[in-house]
Amino acid sequence: MNVFVELLLFLVTLLYSYLEAFVKLFVPARRKSLSGELVLITGAGHGVGRATALEFAKRQSRLVLWDINKVKKDIGDVTILVTNAGVITTADFLSTQDHQIERMFEVNILGHMWTTRAFLPVMMNNNYGHIVTVASAAGHFVTPYMVAYCSSKFAAVGFHKALTEELCALGKDGIKTTCLCPVFINTGFVKNPSTRLGKILEVEEVVEALMEGIVTNQKMVFVPSNQGVALLLERVFPERALNLLKKMFEVKFDAVVGQRSTQ
Ligand SMILES: NC(=O)c1ccc[n+]([C@@H]2O[C@H](COP(=O)([O-])OP(=O)(O)OC[C@H]3O[C@@H](n4cnc5c(N)ncnc54)[C@H](O)[C@@H]3O)[C@@H](O)[C@H]2O)c1
Repeated sequence: MNVFVELLLFLVTLLYSYLEAFVKLFVPARRKSLSGELVLITGAGHGVGRATALEFAKRQSRLVLWDINKVKKDIGDVTILVTNAGVITTADFLSTQDHQIERMFEVNILGHMWTTRAFLPVMMNNNYGHIVTVASAAGHFVTPYMVAYCSSKFAAVGFHKALTEELCALGKDGIKTTCLCPVFINTGFVKNPSTRLGKILEVEEVVEALMEGIVTNQKMVFVPSNQGVALLLERVFPERALNLLKKMFEVKFDAVVGQRSTQ
């Protein structure tokens, strides 16, 4: 296609997308039913996973707890996969032990990949399904004393985005994707978190936002939602001003600092 025509098409698409986004501000989004869906949630024993399982149950979905070998044989084709299981070690980078770094990558990103590879083939055959990646605000913004955790969550966000693009390139428009990125939640996952940015989230408000994101097929769910604006500001603010802002936010939590690991 002629470059001029391509550029024109791009501009028309851009205008149309802005117009559509504006109209959607006033028109309620269509919500899909979750009744009868077969939902597999990893890490469903506690926190976000447990609360998400309860919400799916209220909507008459069929639920499966994490156990990959059993699961595939016994219950059939999973239509909604929620990779939520996560682990964290809060320590400065040199105090974090090798096995702790490995564990964070195993659970927080490789686990997402292995589970998705197990259930995506059937979704691809049916061109139907929904893959939900529970990442974190730490997948967009970095924090000291969470170097390995942030890295694993950046990988989870990257996985979600790249998979979304690939499904689009393959024409699998029936397979939806959602990525959840909350700030601190009151589950005990991070010990004693606090920040001047706002209160620590309750699990219920996070799961409410997640369920809304799933039924309306949102690709990225930030909790709180103003993280999108913060991302934009991070790109345009000078480094010195950003550093000052971060100090003002006073993000704090329990962490091991200055105990260099030899393992
Ligand atoms: N709590 C927070 O502040 C916070 C903030 C942002 C993102 N997140 C993310 O949300 C997700 C859930 O966190 P949470 O706060 O509910 O934590 P949680 O510790 O309350 O619950 C996590 C659950 O996952 C399980 N789990 C851990 N490793 C597993 C594995 N390999 N296989 C199966 N289950 C496993 C745990 O046993 C636990 O039941 C995690 O991915 C976490 O990174 C948490």
